[in-house]
Amino acid sequence: MSKKLTIGIFGFGVVGQGLYDIIKTKNLNLSIKHFVIKNPNKKRSLPAELFHTDASIILDDPEINTVVELIDDAEAAYHIVTTALKNGKNVVSANKKMIATHIRELTEIQQQYGTSLLYEGAVCGSIPIIRNLEEYYDNELLHAVTGIFNGSSNYILSKIFNEDMDYNEALKQAQDLGYAETDPTLDVGGYDAKYKLTIVASHAYGLYENPDDILNIGIDKLSHRDIQYAREKNFKIKLVPTAKEIANNQVVLYVLPKLVDSTSILYTVENEYNGVVVQAAFADQQFFYGKGAGGHPTGSAVLSDITALRYDYRYEYKKHLTSNNSVYSTDYNLRIYLRYEDESIIELLHFNRIDERYYANGYKYVIGEINLKQLITHRGKIAQDGVFIAEID
Ligand code: HSE
Repeated sequence: MSKKLTIGIFGFGVVGQGLYDIIKTKNLNLSIKHFVIKNPNKKRSLPAELFHTDASIILDDPEINTVVELIDDAEAAYHIVTTALKNGKNVVSANKKMIATHIRELTEIQQQYGTSLLYEGAVCGSIPIIRNLEEYYDNELLHAVTGIFNGSSNYILSKIFNEDMDYNEALKQAQDLGYAETDPTLDVGGYDAKYKLTIVASHAYGLYENPDDILNIGIDKLSHRDIQYAREKNFKIKLVPTAKEIANNQVVLYVLPKLVDSTSILYTVENEYNGVVVQAAFADQQFFYGKGAGGHPTGSAVLSDITALRYDYRYEYKKHLTSNNSVYSTDYNLRIYLRYEDESIIELLHFNRIDERYYANGYKYVIGEINLKQLITHRGKIAQDGVFIAEID
């Protein structure tokens, strides 16, 4: 028999509205008691009296046993989620930055207070990757989890490569369609993908890593030169987060643009779709494909978490408990395409090997092998104008 849920929802933006649209079509054993929002003057599709601005109306209500947190602000979300868990309420959140930044503490609070925090909607929208990593791949040896984890940047890259659209126009569309974060730098700078990767690494390898220690390079410095290079070589550019086990239980984590050819399963993942490639020792390669952004796809993942709470589902963080002592490593050589203007960056990055160089009309690129450590050390230089890097197989 499922438990009756009395729900308080924080936030009524793209995902909140999407969730509500889905819930109202269902006859579930749940009721939404209150919404708490930041701006009471915003026009909404539901009667104004349903909305409040005081968080305590939900957090201090003993009748509310389930809190759904769908706000933008990671700091405020942290306060809401931790307070709710400590007040004995189960929580569903889609706030990837907040979860990635505090995942160790959030795990401990759940254990201490016997409450459950679920966040499938935080990683790759509608794709059920967290529960699969927790349950299905419980006993599998995972060699790698990689893919496309950010819908907005993939939308922009698809529009550029398939329709020759201008970068800024494509970004504007991603914003208008509700895919992008309020600050789109999080999308195009690879931060959003990195937060999702941090959460994935936790459930795949039992790692609690500080996102600040993980390299993220985005697509914001992409130029027509890079697009031209990719086209000439029959590549597409995708923004690809990677969690990969290298020797001796060491796991590397990074987010980089990647030049992929048509043999890559990611080549055909377009627009707001995401794809997660799991490379496992026994199951071999598996691929999860679905919409990674948007109100209804993400709302459907949030609803799946809500309904799982009717049966008291909780993540057991098994990889942490039965840890094979995976450790985060940055000692890994990557094959890199680097476009640059100032020659000094070549020396700075300490290429281990250079395979190709090209100069024309002020356009310079080099392809070679660089250690991830060097990229992390010099990420400030790489983020400068005139520089673009991408991983290349
Ligand atoms: N801004 C995110 C994206 C939303 O574009 O993927 C979904 O997490």
